[in-house]
Order: sequence, then C-alpha cells, then structure tokens
Amino acid sequence: MARKIAVLTSGGDAPGMNAAVRAIVRTGIAHDCEMYGVQMGFEGLIKGNVTFLSPRDVGGIMQQAGTFLGSARSVEFTTQEGQEKAAQNLAALGIDSVVVIGGNGSQKGAHALSKAGLSVVGVASTIDNDLYGSDITIGVDTALNIALEAIDRLRVTATSHRRGLLVEVMGRKCGYLALIAGMAGGAEAIVIPERELPPARLAEILQAAHERGKRHALIVVAEGSQNNAQKLAEYFKQHDPHFELRVTILGHVQRGGTPTAFDRLLATRLGVAAMEALVRGEQGILVGLLDNRPGFTPLNDVVDRTKPLDLGLLDIAEMLAK
Ligand code: F6P
Repeated sequence: MARKIAVLTSGGDAPGMNAAVRAIVRTGIAHDCEMYGVQMGFEGLIKGNVTFLSPRDVGGIMQQAGTFLGSARSVEFTTQEGQEKAAQNLAALGIDSVVVIGGNGSQKGAHALSKAGLSVVGVASTIDNDLYGSDITIGVDTALNIALEAIDRLRVTATSHRRGLLVEVMGRKCGYLALIAGMAGGAEAIVIPERELPPARLAEILQAAHERGKRHALIVVAEGSQNNAQKLAEYFKQHDPHFELRVTILGHVQRGGTPTAFDRLLATRLGVAAMEALVRGEQGILVGLLDNRPGFTPLNDVVDRTKPLDLGLLDIAEMLAK
C-alpha cells in the first residue's frame, strides 16, 4: 500500500509557498506516495479538512502568490487537545507523515506533531527571514523586491517635494526586511529592533544630511521597532516640527507579490529535499537553505530560537548613507 503524506502551509502566507507544495506533491508521487493537502494549516488538520492531491491539482500554481491550500494561525493547535484531534484525524486517513511549510510558529507546530509520533519535515518559509536553520526563507526575496519598488517610488516624490518619508516594512520583531530594503534603496536611516535608534539621534542624522545638501530623507523602519513609523512621525511633530515626516506603511502588500524566480527555485529545491528526506526515513527536521544548498536542522533546535541579524550590514548602510 502506498505511503500517505500530507502537506500544509501555515502562518503568514509567503510568495513561493505554492511552488513548494507543487514540488512536494510531485516528488512524493514520483516516489509512489499518495499525497494529500490540508486546508487552512493546522486548523484544517483539527477539522479534518484534508483532500487527495494529484499532479494536475498542483498545476499552474507556481506563478501565484499566496497559498492555494490556505493558511491560518491556529490557537487551538497550541493546545494538547487540538494536537490530539489533528493526530487522530491523520490516523483515521492512514496518513503518517506531514510536511509543514511555514515560519517560526508553524515549525513549533511541526515539532509538536513530531512529538505526537508523526513523521514531520518542515520547510522554511516566512517573509521575515528570522527562522533558525535557513540562511534565507521562501518569500523573502519577493517581499524585499516589493518593498524596494515602493521605496524607489517614494524616493522620487520625496526628492521632488524636498520631504522626509518614513516607510514601515513588515518583519515582526526582526529587522531583516527593513535593513536589506533600506540598504538596497539607499535610505538615509534604517530603524530596526536589533539596534534601536533613539528619535533624537534620528533627528541629528536628518539634520546632518540636510546640512550636507540632501533635499530628501528616506527612513526605512521595521514594524517591530520600539519607535515604529507612526511613533517617529509623532515625535518629530512634537519635538522637531520643521521636519515633517510623512508615513507609508507597506503592510500586507509585501506578501502578495508574484513570486520571483529566486523564490520559485528556492521553494522547489526545498520542497524536493523535504520529500526525499521523508522517503529516506528522516523526520523531525527542518529543510532550509544552508551554504547555498538544502540543509537539515532538527526541529528541536529550531523552535524557540531566531536567526540573528548581521548587524555589520547596518554599519555599512550607515557608512554609505552620506
Ligand atoms: O510573519 C509574517 C508576517 O507578515 C509579519 O511580518 C507580520 O508581522 C505578520 O506576519 C502579520 O501577520 P497577520 O497577517 O496574521 O496579521
């Protein structure tokens, strides 16, 4: 009898998730497995929303952002009861293995399923790029390019009007997206949670840039910074009214872009590696990109950890913002 394997996407959707599902399903079928898709992440596991997937069911999805399986942040699955329900539903269908595509919260869920006795392999996917066990995760490249396009456009109008603009990007508590988009966009200042920039210091930076002859200021702010874009704008209104800073919050726009070639390829490589690992009998691991190849990290080492940010890049960005 064919081995039955399920795949789910969980947490915030990330461009490239569909390419990963396609690769997982078709690699599984190439290894004579029967493949199943779970709707709406761990919520779907609890509700038993699991359907059979053929190679044709995953045709034409690689080009699309989001996840055709649907995704959710399941509170119920964080409970013992929710996890037991999910395991029972899988057992009833004869499914003994699950591939979990997602970021930190999702890999925590993957670890819980693995501890419940299922064979589980995680695939590293989040636009935040904060997941331990992958140098870069599925979705980051697309989200970065969307943020960068917005920054480039904002820079044009900032220069025309001699304005200061605050652009807030996603990333939860991680400043990666802000740092890289800010660097690549030539921002005058980058504000990230890993090295907070007091508003008074930001005012000094902007004043110095003005005195050097700059006629615009672009400040990229990570949403997780103590002083997010709104708070910084408010600070300047109160303390430095001659600097009027306009706020643009990019928000979910960053998650909805057509996956770049990089994300499609990364998702495909990680999806294939995840399935091949499962077929070899490996489990309880996360597949991520390590030194430019798919590499494996025990889920046990992934949970409750985040990948540190290379703050040397911030030093470089600050040195070059002259
Ligand atoms: O984790 C991905 C992410 O987009 C974060 O950058 C952001 O803080 C969060 O998800 C938003 O989550 P939701 O879409 O559930 O509001």
